[in-house]
Amino acid sequence: MPALTRRTLLKASAATAASFALGAGLAARPGTAAPLTLKAQFSAAKIAEGSAETRVMTWGLGDTQALSGVPPVLRMRQGQPFAARLVNALDEPTTVHWHGLRIPNAMDGVPEMTQPYVYPGDGFDYAFTPPDAGTFWYHPHCNTLTQMGHGMTGVIVVENPADPVFDAEIVLNLRDWRLGADGSFIAPFKPRDAARGGTYGTVRTANWQRAPQFEAPAGGLVRLRIAATDVTRIYTLGIDAPTSILALDSNALPLPLSLDTLDLGPGQRADLVVRMPDGEGQTVTLGNLRGSSPWTIATLVARGSSLKRDLAEAGALAQNPIARPEIAGAERIPLDVTATAEHKAVESICGSLGYTFWAINKVPWPGDTPDPVAPLAELKLGRSYVFEIANRTPHAHPIHLHGLTFHVLSSNKRTVLPPPTDTILLQPDEQAELALVADNPGDWMLHCHIIEHQKTGMSSYLRIV
Ligand code: C2O
Ligand code: CU
Repeated sequence: MPALTRRTLLKASAATAASFALGAGLAARPGTAAPLTLKAQFSAAKIAEGSAETRVMTWGLGDTQALSGVPPVLRMRQGQPFAARLVNALDEPTTVHWHGLRIPNAMDGVPEMTQPYVYPGDGFDYAFTPPDAGTFWYHPHCNTLTQMGHGMTGVIVVENPADPVFDAEIVLNLRDWRLGADGSFIAPFKPRDAARGGTYGTVRTANWQRAPQFEAPAGGLVRLRIAATDVTRIYTLGIDAPTSILALDSNALPLPLSLDTLDLGPGQRADLVVRMPDGEGQTVTLGNLRGSSPWTIATLVARGSSLKRDLAEAGALAQNPIARPEIAGAERIPLDVTATAEHKAVESICGSLGYTFWAINKVPWPGDTPDPVAPLAELKLGRSYVFEIANRTPHAHPIHLHGLTFHVLSSNKRTVLPPPTDTILLQPDEQAELALVADNPGDWMLHCHIIEHQKTGMSSYLRIV
């Protein structure tokens, strides 16, 4: 296990907004009897420097205007039905994908593949029962580089009433924005970057604020639910206070693991517990250590007299009911993630970037055209499979599978942590073995969550029948 680090890695930033409580806008709580209305809409948000407002895309709950622009944190309960009606008040088609939730295929939100496009003025009813607890997120699956880039990335918390209770909980939705000085959006990508690691934003935020500050009880244990929802950025998180990892991609570690640094790619989540300092006003900095100049993502400020907790009091979260694959005798299926020279930009109602740079098993596909390619493989319901995935590129790719959770058996590049996942951050030239039980029937997308890579070919799907 990596040792606890208490580095003062970053200077606390000149804090902008102070925020109490949960950190991310309106929260929809479980137990609301009627299905909630999730209205896709435009809204104004202050993200850029100065007072310029940005016309973001977001969702509002019911008829409430999405005031701050931050999508509501949706709270569900493990094993309890959830229902939401998507109403489209945008000026283009959209859908909702519930990233990481193992729900029926018809609820998965992929236009053409699992449901029709939801055109402006139309709606779609989603209803499902989340089988797993943890931190998840939601986003459209149509014109995603624009819709997600312009703000449609929200956090989902699925509660397990048996979870340990902490002194505070803060939800952090990490992402960037491609904004010009006047606060309006600039071109969502540069082709030469899409053919490499992806195009970065110009403004870096947590909960739509630059380096926000949150208050938390001094000496207390704070649960951070972090979701990396940016379309491009891979984070390397570090915290200058004693911290343990509780869960990765919604799945608990068997025992909390001391945090040294943690790589988190687009689509991934981390549940951490931080032990706040004892002194009133002392700060804890969550930083991004990737690249040459570390920067502050958010700051926590200790308030009140110390609760004098011990980080070792933080127990493990409950395991989700993920089936254990039978490895011996499982069919093995290669998945090659490569660049491609084959140009095959196809028009789509969900937008095309007009370029093809990437492929899975040699076939490039942007993922949302009316004429899907053949599935990567057809799996038999209930059987176990091992995927031999190979990243044959010099770039990292967060590869996400819809509707199922897989176990990472091995990697030639790193030590594998125990929790199963829905998104593996493949390092350059990494080869890994992924195993799963094909226990959810339907067509399930498998794609890179660097959206430029997805939309320029690094996308495909598995069929389970
Ligand atoms: Cu986060 Cu295809 O999804
Ligand atoms: Cu990628």
